[in-house]
Amino acid sequence: MAPILHLSILHILIFFVLCSCILHNTYVTSVTLSLETDKQTLIYLKSQTITQPPDALVTWDPNSSPCNWTRVSCDDRRQRVVGVDLSSLGISGQVSPHIGNLSFLTTLQLQDNRFQGIIPETITDLLRLRVLNISFNSIQGTIPANLSHCIELRVVDFMQNELSGSIPEDLTLLVNLQTLNLAGNRLYGSIPPSIGNLSSLLTLKLGTNN
Ligand SMILES: *[C@@H]1O[C@H](CO)[C@@H](O)[C@H](O)[C@H]1NC(C)=O
Ligand SMILES: *[C@@H]1O[C@H](CO)[C@@H](O)[C@H](O)[C@H]1NC(C)=O
Ligand SMILES: *[C@@H]1O[C@H](CO)[C@@H](O)[C@H](O)[C@H]1NC(C)=O
Ligand SMILES: *[C@@H]1O[C@H](CO)[C@@H](O)[C@H](O)[C@H]1NC(C)=O
Ligand SMILES: *[C@@H]1O[C@H](CO)[C@@H](O)[C@H](O)[C@H]1NC(C)=O
Repeated sequence: MAPILHLSILHILIFFVLCSCILHNTYVTSVTLSLETDKQTLIYLKSQTITQPPDALVTWDPNSSPCNWTRVSCDDRRQRVVGVDLSSLGISGQVSPHIGNLSFLTTLQLQDNRFQGIIPETITDLLRLRVLNISFNSIQGTIPANLSHCIELRVVDFMQNELSGSIPEDLTLLVNLQTLNLAGNRLYGSIPPSIGNLSSLLTLKLGTNN
């Protein structure tokens, strides 16, 4: 009896050691792949971007980890890109729809550039987004109503752009919103009364529109 018991405990031990190896490998592979996607997205964005000074993103080298790049921050635990700051780099052109692939992004700072075109709808795929600052650009078109999907949003700063249309009522579904700045655009219509439901809202700026 004793040797059989001994054997089975050994088997169980071997089983657990094998399991943890497999789990560990799967874990490492999935993390690497995801950070790899973040890297590919950022390299693509860089390829579409001319900055002032021109070497502002020189550290964005495909042979290093994006967590080591300037203006990029990562989550220590998951090793995913959580912050991108492209503010004040004299960037013109469109905000690329590829931005929606940075699925762990919590902070996106594009303010104080010369971005044109519309807010890409893919921005509403960034479900962890907390801070979205695109103020002081030349962004046109309407505010995507589906921004209300980004339920973690704390800061929405669209000040001083060329946004038109009305303020989507769905924005008032953003229950965590603390700052909403839509001042200095071309918005018109009424302020959705349900904005009063946003109990976390501390700053609301809508001045100088239309
Ligand atoms: C990131 O930077 C650290 C410190 O400078 C360096 O030791 C490490 O090798 C770099 N990692 C990658 C993947 O570039
Ligand atoms: C990133 O997003 C774009 C447009 O939204 C898509 O066409 C592309 O395949 C995506 N790339 C990756 C690496 O997922
Ligand atoms: C957004 O960026 C502008 C320009 O740099 C800055 O003045 C403003 O304080 C930022 N908004 C928030 C809510 O932090
Ligand atoms: C907004 O989200 C809804 C459902 O969540 C989807 O059916 C619709 O296509 C989205 N709108 C746009 C413009 O992507
Ligand atoms: C939000 O406000 C509107 C109008 O002020 C009200 O009719 C509605 O019931 C409120 N919704 C919630 C979820 O509190």
